[in-house]
Amino acid sequence: MGHALKALILASLTSQIQASWTGTFGPVNQRPLTGSGGSRPNIVFILTDDQDLHMQSLDYMPFVKKHLTDHGTSFRRHFCTTALCCPSRVSLWTGKAAHNTNVTDVTPPYGGYPKFVSQGLNEKYLPVWLQDAGYNTYYTGKLFNAHSVDTYNTPFAAGWTGSDFLLDPFTYWYMNSTFQRNRDPPVSYEGQYSVDVLAEKAIGFLDEAYEAGKPFFIGLAPVAPHSDIQSPAFKHGNHSNITEVQFRPPVSAERHAHLFPDAKVPRTANFNPDKPSGGGWIRNLRKQSPEVIEFNDYFYAQRLRALQSVDELVDRVVRRLEDFGILDNTYVIYSTDNGYHIGQHRLHPSKQCSFEEDINIPLIIRGPGVPEKFTTDIVTAHTDLAPTLLKIAGAPLRDDFDGLAIPLTQDGLAQAKDDRHEHVTVEHWGFGANEGLILDWYPRARLNHTYKAMRVIGKSYNLHYQVWCHNEHELYDLNTDPGQMVNLLHPDEPSTRTLLGLPLQKVTRRLDSLLFVLKSCRGQTCTNPWRALHPEGNVESLKDALSPRFDTFYETAAGNIRFEKCEAGYIVESEGPQFKQGLLESNLDPNWHEWT
Ligand SMILES: *[C@@H]1O[C@H](CO)[C@@H](O)[C@H](O)[C@H]1NC(C)=O
Ligand SMILES: *[C@@H]1O[C@H](CO)[C@@H](O)[C@H](O)[C@H]1NC(C)=O
Ligand SMILES: *[C@@H]1O[C@H](CO)[C@@H](O)[C@H](O)[C@H]1NC(C)=O
Ligand SMILES: *[C@@H]1O[C@H](CO)[C@@H](O)[C@H](O)[C@H]1NC(C)=O
Ligand SMILES: *[C@@H]1O[C@H](CO)[C@@H](O)[C@H](O)[C@H]1NC(C)=O
Repeated sequence: MGHALKALILASLTSQIQASWTGTFGPVNQRPLTGSGGSRPNIVFILTDDQDLHMQSLDYMPFVKKHLTDHGTSFRRHFCTTALCCPSRVSLWTGKAAHNTNVTDVTPPYGGYPKFVSQGLNEKYLPVWLQDAGYNTYYTGKLFNAHSVDTYNTPFAAGWTGSDFLLDPFTYWYMNSTFQRNRDPPVSYEGQYSVDVLAEKAIGFLDEAYEAGKPFFIGLAPVAPHSDIQSPAFKHGNHSNITEVQFRPPVSAERHAHLFPDAKVPRTANFNPDKPSGGGWIRNLRKQSPEVIEFNDYFYAQRLRALQSVDELVDRVVRRLEDFGILDNTYVIYSTDNGYHIGQHRLHPSKQCSFEEDINIPLIIRGPGVPEKFTTDIVTAHTDLAPTLLKIAGAPLRDDFDGLAIPLTQDGLAQAKDDRHEHVTVEHWGFGANEGLILDWYPRARLNHTYKAMRVIGKSYNLHYQVWCHNEHELYDLNTDPGQMVNLLHPDEPSTRTLLGLPLQKVTRRLDSLLFVLKSCRGQTCTNPWRALHPEGNVESLKDALSPRFDTFYETAAGNIRFEKCEAGYIVESEGPQFKQGLLESNLDPNWHEWT
């Protein structure tokens, strides 16, 4: 960050802090933290939309730093499991991978709120379980896509003591949002800034929750920094007419419009590279022109400006908790649904890929016993959050979670460095969008953007493996290639054919077998997939599996991934052989030597 920028942020920060200091000083009305049911901790979950970790957006959020990063733990290897809003949010609130929710898209038939409902998940997600555990639950902002002015009451989202949802098709329209409170009809906020509207509602729920005197969960899901989406047809009342849907850069509040005049997408090694990279359609992208780059830099700066209102929201919420005297008994969690790319690998603004920019996302947690000003590299995923929150609430965990509660103490985090699993699975179905400029060779959406991917991060390796639905394979060694520019499995790469000091083929076979298990895993198989491959229990990591004594097993027995065809949703018959315990041999592709 440049000096001028820092000065700017500091100046605005100082004036805002001064403004806040004229308010209440110190705790009012301190409520006892023990006894009479008041001892269980509260949870405030702030969930932004499409926020990146890799383009430095957090550096522009001084209140997040002051209240959360400096008082909590940052999880630097936190991942979403599907880099698309609705599937990711459903996985987050249910604790299940998208292949187990079968909510894999943003709209029906494969996704959206109606699919969430028809999958029976409206009775099986976090707020319902938290209410069962005696919590009051509140939520304002975006819940899921296709949760709309037409679908919000068929049925109402279950599990909320109080709710005020952003509704489609107005969710992403920053200056003309529609919210829908409890059982009331939707209300339009034409001309008001969406994030600020949400902030008022957030404070209202916080007050309500405090007054009620029960432990509470509050979810706050502002639209920023998602792109702005509107359609001229919406105002004529036809919400399914998306013929002229317009994607635009996000919009900031008026008071932030002047900030960061020089902000540009960080020019990392993978930014608009001279050499094509990635797989599938991405490898055919042309280099971006100066005009496209200029637009994308503006898009980037608008994201930072839009996030300023979120930053202020964090400040207001934390100060309110402090005023109520309950900050020390409240977990404040900050994350986003998925990451974002702008210009990396020549991509136009969007998400949905399995590159780090899209999947490795912010997660910061502060709360009782959580180490302060601490960062950890243990591997965590969105499917871990529902179990984590139930654990915080002291509620029983469910045995069908695909994730594992995240440790939140110094000891737990230290222990996890040694014994927590080292992988995360990422999956995607359907289209890959372009939310930036449309060019004749770069349309709004690419079809067949269907793949299974995986990150494996151990002490001596840091790998990314992906198999597309057209069976192209990608493998990156992030220890030597953090920008994921060299696909070690691409025929054009002058690869040394070794990885981790071993023949490339040997490592690839292990990775492919691991992902083969993970692509359809359920429950504990998702967190301990090696057990499925080695039921004797003598393999816990890639390192263990690389032992020469398993060479024959991986060359002759452990199955591998192969799609039959590309689909827009989870059509299991098109996804090739499926892992079944004890039936590995029959799944091995006899031609596997050709692609490794
Ligand atoms: C869809 O909306 C566009 C833009 O408002 C309008 O021109 C068109 O007639 C609409 N189409 C239908 C089928 O309603
Ligand atoms: C804003 O949305 C409302 C519907 O909620 C619509 O009636 C109105 O025309 C929209 N305003 C603009 C400027 O398009
Ligand atoms: C709304 O627009 C969609 C798509 O353009 C069209 O199929 C539908 O008939 C329209 N509905 C109404 C009520 O005009
Ligand atoms: C998408 O995949 C299907 C089946 O795998 C194939 O028939 C079709 O040509 C592909 N379409 C595009 C646009 O690549
Ligand atoms: C997922 O949902 C789609 C759409 O309803 C359905 O066609 C498909 O069979 C489902 N997949 C699984 C594995 O249940």
